Amino acid sequence: MQEYLVKPLSNIAQVGLDKLEGTSCDLNESTSKPDGVLVRSTKLSSDDLTDNLKAISRAGAGVNNIPVEECTEKGIVVFNTPGANANAVKELVLAGLMLSSRNIYASIDFVNELTDKSEMSELEPFLESNKKQFKGNELSGSTLGVVGLGAIGSKVARMGVALDMEVIGFDPALSVEAAWKLPSQVKPAATLEELFRVSEYISIHIPALPSTEKIINKDLFKFSNNLSLLNFARHEVVNTQDVLNFIDKGNLRNFITDFPTPELIKRANDKKDVILLPHIGASTAQAEENCAVMAVNQLTEFLQTGNIINSVNFPDVRLNRTTDYRISIINKNVPAMIGQIATELGELNLNIAEMTNVSKGDIAYNLIDIENEVSEESINKLQGIENVIDVRLIG
Ligand code: MLT
Repeated sequence: MQEYLVKPLSNIAQVGLDKLEGTSCDLNESTSKPDGVLVRSTKLSSDDLTDNLKAISRAGAGVNNIPVEECTEKGIVVFNTPGANANAVKELVLAGLMLSSRNIYASIDFVNELTDKSEMSELEPFLESNKKQFKGNELSGSTLGVVGLGAIGSKVARMGVALDMEVIGFDPALSVEAAWKLPSQVKPAATLEELFRVSEYISIHIPALPSTEKIINKDLFKFSNNLSLLNFARHEVVNTQDVLNFIDKGNLRNFITDFPTPELIKRANDKKDVILLPHIGASTAQAEENCAVMAVNQLTEFLQTGNIINSVNFPDVRLNRTTDYRISIINKNVPAMIGQIATELGELNLNIAEMTNVSKGDIAYNLIDIENEVSEESINKLQGIENVIDVRLIG
């Protein structure tokens, strides 16, 4: 059986790494030629895309720390773990909603300053006479807007319904499957503008992509009044300077984010209308374990069988193995490739038992079970077909 080297480039929960035991994938922290890489938030560059690398598995949802486009060009499959940490993020959003509605942060600071009140008889009346400045609002009955209704956003929407909030969601890419899972109380917004007009709280759950960069900005804030904005997605999706300007104008009441920037930290020190957390949305024991197990399982499945589940740049593929000789072929998604591959296999006298061909964007992926033994020379011949990116014999 073929052996594969798997290198962790971030701290990955042990329970996930334990899943490598008994597989043909060996953990190797020092190899310079891994077949697969496991990563959490470590930022990868071109230098990490070494010659042998076949796949990168991200223990988490966001892949903005991985050069995905370059991976696709090189035929490297990038996996993520959608949903594995969604509950952890949802629970922190709940904390964010509470922090924004009940002045908790300022209240705690206020109490912690009272070290000069050494007697209860002095402290208690002081607290009672000062607490009115921290009066908050109940979430129940107010409107929660959710931007992005994927694994995390849909859980946040459901939570809003459970809190008796009016929930409105916006997701132009909402899948039919995801839509079915949403409670009927979640109303769809036709546009982001509509969502910003009607919401008192907005929670953002979209990925950081070139198309979403600073998408949450002044053009939307101008429609809001006294809005609490929560960002547990990525800092790139929000225009931070616009947030600060519109807090000053009163359109935004506060901003609670898991993604601090230097300008936000400065503001948070001056006033309490910006509340910052250090990217701890997915930092729970349960989420770290879920993500690690899912990331490792997807990577080992791919290395050992060629099957692909939850890739961000390759299509999902599952072919039950029917022969001892399996090859995978990654090619550019251009016409006449299947014909060329089948012709070359015929010329090499290799008989196809089962084959699947699927594509996603610019990439196509073929898994082919062959009835007779496949030589290294045959692999090289297939690799020579124009527009073929990679051919792998999966032992
Ligand atoms: C995610 O993208 O799911 C989180 O950022 C994961 C993490 O905190 O590592």
